[in-house]
Amino acid sequence: MNRLRIRGTRTRLVLALLLVVAGSLGIVYLVVVTSLQTELVNAKLDQLEADAETVVRAYQNEIGSEQELAETAAVLVQARVVVYSILQDELFIFGDSNTTSSLDVARDPTAQRAIRTRTIERGTVVRSGREFAEVAVPLEDSGVVILLSGSLADPLSSLNLIERRLLIAGVIGLLFAVVVGYGAASFHARRIRRLERAAERIAGGRFDEPVVDTGNDELGDLADAFERMRGRLEKLDRARSEFIANASHELRTPLFSLGGFLELMADEDVDDATRREFVETMREQVDRLAKLATDLLDLSRLDAGRMRVEHEPVDLAEVARVVAAEFSARAERKQHTVEVDVQGAPVSRADELRVLQVVRALLDNALTHTPPGTTVTLRAWADREHAYLEVQDDGPGIAPEHAAHVFDRFYRGDGTIASGSGLGLAIARELVQMMSGEVVLESQPGRTLIRVVLGAAPTSVEAPAPDAAVFT
Ligand SMILES: Nc1ncnc2c1ncn2[C@@H]1O[C@H](COP(=O)(O)OP(=O)(O)OP(=O)(O)O)[C@@H](O)[C@H]1O
Ligand SMILES: [Mg+2]
Repeated sequence: MNRLRIRGTRTRLVLALLLVVAGSLGIVYLVVVTSLQTELVNAKLDQLEADAETVVRAYQNEIGSEQELAETAAVLVQARVVVYSILQDELFIFGDSNTTSSLDVARDPTAQRAIRTRTIERGTVVRSGREFAEVAVPLEDSGVVILLSGSLADPLSSLNLIERRLLIAGVIGLLFAVVVGYGAASFHARRIRRLERAAERIAGGRFDEPVVDTGNDELGDLADAFERMRGRLEKLDRARSEFIANASHELRTPLFSLGGFLELMADEDVDDATRREFVETMREQVDRLAKLATDLLDLSRLDAGRMRVEHEPVDLAEVARVVAAEFSARAERKQHTVEVDVQGAPVSRADELRVLQVVRALLDNALTHTPPGTTVTLRAWADREHAYLEVQDDGPGIAPEHAAHVFDRFYRGDGTIASGSGLGLAIARELVQMMSGEVVLESQPGRTLIRVVLGAAPTSVEAPAPDAAVFT
């Protein structure tokens, strides 16, 4: 079906080219040949008219009979000369330089017109398949019409030559048009088919072969667009496979661990204290699975563009206090100190639940990835345009080689405790970006700071940044 369509395009292209060439030749023929023919015939008629004056003068000088005059004049003017006499508006031949037969000019149309109009008449006639130019001069005093008839074969022969040459050139031109048109169309058809095959390959999920077309035209641009599309789809496809592999792996670890503990607990010999310990560990694994399920759901919503965020005033001081309070028991257990430092009244334009989620992920990291005894500070403040909330800890810091990747999905730093799945920061950053903000990371040994920058709401009250806040 598609092949037929491309062939159709090729035929149409060739036909269009043929039409253009044939049309141009037709116009050249009409303009050159027709106008040249008119000019040649007119030149011959002008010459005959001038000669006719000479013959008329000779007739008026009365040199011999009409027949003698016709023959002598014919030699002089190199044309057939016929002298008619007019009797009751009919023509009778008196003399004719053509001595063989005068029948052919007995009812000559030019001479007949001359007796009707009583003026010099000129025109062309065809006799026995040959064309003649004719001039007829009526001499009313003498009741005579003198006709000069010259063959047009000679002047028109060069024209015939031009016509023949034009015809040959036309045929060559048409053949050339067919060959060139067919070649060019085939070349383009091949390129289109290559692109079609590439599109089908991509549609079939095969992204390995690049789409190449070096042409510097619209087809080349189309191939470039295809290649960009292929590259992007290839990346997306790879990311999707990696995501599935990572997610399955993350799900498998706690599930295997749960399975192991269940088997151990089925063993009758386990004492109560151990059983309680097992149950505690199993609860942790279930919590981990639940958190993972929530994170994966958030990611799928973010990817599908189904995550909706509000842009409403959110009091960042309140957020800092609420999250600090939520984590206070856990911080105490690990002997962490959590401090809240608020300047002014920072109010951001954001989604309260999502901001809480982001700050929870940051504080969770600050407590999880630092040794016991660390101090974690939540700071909030605002300037004219932005409201800031940052979480700083004095833990080991993030090495520069990891810092570039901590916002990637499933990325976990070396030696990090195995409980996390490496999704916290990735989701946090995507959420903040959805709220038109950004997340900034500053880290060095002994200090990690992650700052969330959001747009300030009109009710926000500016205040200088808390002392420890470092701007980059
Ligand atoms: N405050 C911090 N101090 C040191 N390292 C950190 C800190 N915050 C994050 N990291 C490093 O960045 C990595 C990515 O953090 P992220 O929150 O995305 O994942 P996670 O905490 O490992 O897992 P999850 O948050 O999904 O439970 C962590 O594994 C850790 O190595
Ligand atoms: Mg985390």
